[in-house]
Amino acid sequence: MHSIEVSGLKKYFPVRKRLFSGKAQHVKAVDGVDFAVERGETFGLVGESGCGKTTVGRVIVRLYNPTEGRVSFEGTDISSLTQRELLPYRKRMQMIFQDPFSSLDSRMTVGDIVGEAIDIHGLASGRERTDRILAILDRVGLSKWHASRYPHEFSGGQRQRIGIARALVVEPSFIVCDEPISALDVSIQAQIINMLEEFQENMGLTYLFIAHDLSMVKHISTRIGVMYLGGLVETAGSDELYKNPLHPYTQSLLSAIPIPDPDEAVRSRRIILEGEIPSPIDTPPGCKFRTRCPMAGSECGDENPALREAAPGHYVACRLI
Ligand SMILES: Nc1ncnc2c1ncn2[C@@H]1O[C@H](COP(=O)(O)OP(=O)(O)OP(=O)(O)O)[C@@H](O)[C@H]1O
Ligand code: SF4
Ligand SMILES: [Mg+2]
Repeated sequence: MHSIEVSGLKKYFPVRKRLFSGKAQHVKAVDGVDFAVERGETFGLVGESGCGKTTVGRVIVRLYNPTEGRVSFEGTDISSLTQRELLPYRKRMQMIFQDPFSSLDSRMTVGDIVGEAIDIHGLASGRERTDRILAILDRVGLSKWHASRYPHEFSGGQRQRIGIARALVVEPSFIVCDEPISALDVSIQAQIINMLEEFQENMGLTYLFIAHDLSMVKHISTRIGVMYLGGLVETAGSDELYKNPLHPYTQSLLSAIPIPDPDEAVRSRRIILEGEIPSPIDTPPGCKFRTRCPMAGSECGDENPALREAAPGHYVACRLI
């Protein structure tokens, strides 16, 4: 059974009209994305800065309305529900944010931040509410006296624990983890990952885990999707993607990861991509990766290739494969 199923998902943001041309323009942050996340699995979503990962996560949990396409949550299409109709789903779908500082209200105590989530969904009051707040703080490795403190009094790792407590206190089944460890020290990263894995096991959670680079998601993900300029270019099981990357973009991302074994390192060829990522406002015609692809040929300018199954469960969007 799918936890999340996304099809034909698009999210365009309007850009202010140019003074003289008068033509309305859009940032095509997400431009036609399809994938499904099975219950209990972790789907890793990777790609360079600005490729649309956070926007995908925000549209799934309906912090943004989609421009086009469908998002199903446990079999129900939630993409066109009203805010009122969404409320029961909001409790079951949570998000842990990229920047643990700006995502926490600096004027609220930790107890209030976590309690607010309980209140929105009317889950508990009085003594039970307090007990619930203290229990979740304990589970994420914070103390009960932390409840009366403010976010600025905490370290980055502790702030991310507060964000996790806020997401978990309403007992969700699906969580978007948006680069939850990128801003943290390496030693703290492992602690947060272990904690997320433990909660997944104990609470049967499903994760969409967003990261910049493939080394971060390999360990935690069951399957991985690679994004480029608003679209998915490859999805496969985690091991398969590492052993057999098919898309030139995935190959370049993988080649950037240092290999500990010197023999392997000699064999692997570092692929350095030339040029900048094109603007998501003026996306190039044809394959979106064309301007940087080492394999690009004249045919690549015709159309943007769709994902197609190259091997069982392994999908790739490139005309050569
Ligand atoms: N609210 C918004 N209004 C206008 N444009 C936006 C908005 N949110 C994102 N964008 C644009 O959409 C594109 C995708 O942004 P997004 O934040 O989803 O990327 P990302 O892959 O999460 O990047 P990063 O790895 O840096 O977090 C970017 O070009 C960004 O500038
Ligand atoms: S379709 Fe062409 S430009 Fe696009 S990834 Fe494949 S070879 Fe490169
Ligand atoms: Mg982001």
